[in-house]
Amino acid sequence: MSGLLGRIRRKATAPPAAPRTADDELFGGRRVLDRGFARHEQAGLQMSFLAMARRIPHLVARTAGLAWSVDRTALCTVAAAEAGQGLGAAFGLLATNRVLVRLFAAAPTAQRVEAALPSLAWVAAASALVAVLREISKAATGRLEPKVERAAAVQLLRPVIGAELAAIEDPEFRRLLDSAQYGTDAARRMVHLNVAVVNALISLASAAGVLAVLHPVLLPMLVLIALPKGCGAVRSARRRYRSIQAWLEHLRKRHQLAGLLIEQHTATEIRVHAVGPYLLRHFEAMSQEGEDEQARLARAEAATGLAAGAGSGIATAATFVVLGVLLTTGMIPLAVAGTAVIAIRTSTLQLGSFVGQVNQLYEESLFYTDLERAVVRAVERAIPRDGSDVGKPPDEIRLENVTFTYPDRSAPAVDDVSLTVRRGQIIALVGENGSGKTTLSKLLAGLYMPDKGRITWDGTDITDLDRSSLFAHVTLIAQDFMRWPFTARTNILVGRPDVGPDPGRIDRAAAYAEADAVIAELPKGLDTLLDRNYSEGVNLSGGQWQHFALARAKFREGSVIIADEPTAALDARSEIAAFARIRELAADGCTVILISHRMASCRHADTIYVLHHGRLAEQGTHAALLARPGSLYASYYNLQADQFAP
Ligand SMILES: Nc1ncnc2c1ncn2[C@@H]1O[C@H](COP(=O)(O)OP(=O)(O)OP(=O)(O)O)[C@@H](O)[C@H]1O
Ligand SMILES: [Mg+2]
Repeated sequence: MSGLLGRIRRKATAPPAAPRTADDELFGGRRVLDRGFARHEQAGLQMSFLAMARRIPHLVARTAGLAWSVDRTALCTVAAAEAGQGLGAAFGLLATNRVLVRLFAAAPTAQRVEAALPSLAWVAAASALVAVLREISKAATGRLEPKVERAAAVQLLRPVIGAELAAIEDPEFRRLLDSAQYGTDAARRMVHLNVAVVNALISLASAAGVLAVLHPVLLPMLVLIALPKGCGAVRSARRRYRSIQAWLEHLRKRHQLAGLLIEQHTATEIRVHAVGPYLLRHFEAMSQEGEDEQARLARAEAATGLAAGAGSGIATAATFVVLGVLLTTGMIPLAVAGTAVIAIRTSTLQLGSFVGQVNQLYEESLFYTDLERAVVRAVERAIPRDGSDVGKPPDEIRLENVTFTYPDRSAPAVDDVSLTVRRGQIIALVGENGSGKTTLSKLLAGLYMPDKGRITWDGTDITDLDRSSLFAHVTLIAQDFMRWPFTARTNILVGRPDVGPDPGRIDRAAAYAEADAVIAELPKGLDTLLDRNYSEGVNLSGGQWQHFALARAKFREGSVIIADEPTAALDARSEIAAFARIRELAADGCTVILISHRMASCRHADTIYVLHHGRLAEQGTHAALLARPGSLYASYYNLQADQFAP
């Protein structure tokens, strides 16, 4: 009995299960990489201070290279102005030394001041020159920055738009792309930081040079002051970068939540289903998690800063002791000691900002490195451009035992499928949700390459064809077609942007798809912006958008038309009309691949293919499939037909 009571009591006092976090509830798991993975991922980050110091010239060269490619004049202006400032500063220090020597000379005060005047004039001239050059450099840097940002963005975006669809859908590549997007901003900031670092380096070098001239022992002392701060800076930069990497997806999800709360298309459910307070609660919880991480970083950074500051402080104190010893033993005169104090003061001040800037430069460079890595990955997975030209529209497209599995799935989405489509024919793909129709259409369009089997266009394997010339023949009305946030005209023009906005062709396409009636009601006709997020933009209904998708397809005038649920949102009359026109395209010599759940619209197809779990279960004409006892097609067809039975 007491054992049972004990068990019950233990059960009652057992710690409650860990509360589900916002990550768990909304996204099915934590969106923060654990540190183990972060360590593994960032193996290349285990860098020493020296290795980092060695990277500075490389970083400077890389940014300079980028700047060189966009504006050589501005870059040369910055370089000359910075070098001039360094020389001016060194010259100023030497002139200061001469002023001090004259002032400390054994002569009457008036004479000493008079003797110091020319050198004083040189000091003033040097600082005026430095000030002018600083502003010139600032102006040229301001000109360079946006150009470098643009160059970096284009450097990333160009290969990305040319990469295989499978690469874009690869979660690892997506993560890299997220980080790389920070890289374009980083490139911009790197210009400014680079200038600051070079400026500080030159000033430091000139102060160091002057110190070495004054007495050689002062130079190593300066290095001793610099070292702890440098090490601390690298430590902090690495820590921050790792944190951002680990929290990247968490950050994205948090931004996404904030966006969802204010977007238009979420507004109805946010209100009616009270999703707003629910998401806001999770947003706050996720933000708090992020704040804890920020606090941890700030604490760690303060501790590192304290240790580095203490190290530099001790080295500075030691330097002044050395200076005192040199002075009292008569190894340097008072004027030299005075100049040395000024040089050390200036250089330690410079050092403070230098360390901060190197720190930032290093951190930004890590993101820029991700941009470069993303570019390399995108280039590696580029759609090949070296195949033979497709030329004329294909007479026959053939799939031979094609199998395709998505990288993150175990079962194939398309499994051992063989079929042939001839020019002027309509084939229909039917099947339940998830049976592989859209995937098969993307294989036919050359968007995915089969894992097994092959796809041929007039007998040539598509891997041997220049894919851009293949795409030029394909018109894809995708199931999730784009609602471009552009004007009505551009929404049609993007069917084939390279032909330009030919008014006749746009009007014909609009009329074909019955989008002309929609356009007639738009406040500015074809010039109306189809995005309510901007002033004067308008919202279209789902069906009106579908008219635009069809108009875009017609404008493209491709010879292989893949229509994936092209009429799902159309009203009954528009749907019948649309299918009639799609059939006319086949009569005009196009190849039509039609995917639809409306069995009635597939009945006119030359061949109907029924997909089931990725495999080709049945094929034949409407009449043959309907007549086949127990056929899947007949069951789908009759299910729909029965709904209209009295
Ligand atoms: N990008 C993707 N990555 C991973 N799996 C995918 C992807 N797209 C589709 N799938 C999976 O592949 C299978 C086939 O999907 P597909 O979109 O081809 O089906 P479908 O026949 O077009 O379905 P529906 O009738 O709903 O449009 C499904 O199990 C789906 O979950
Ligand atoms: Mg589909």
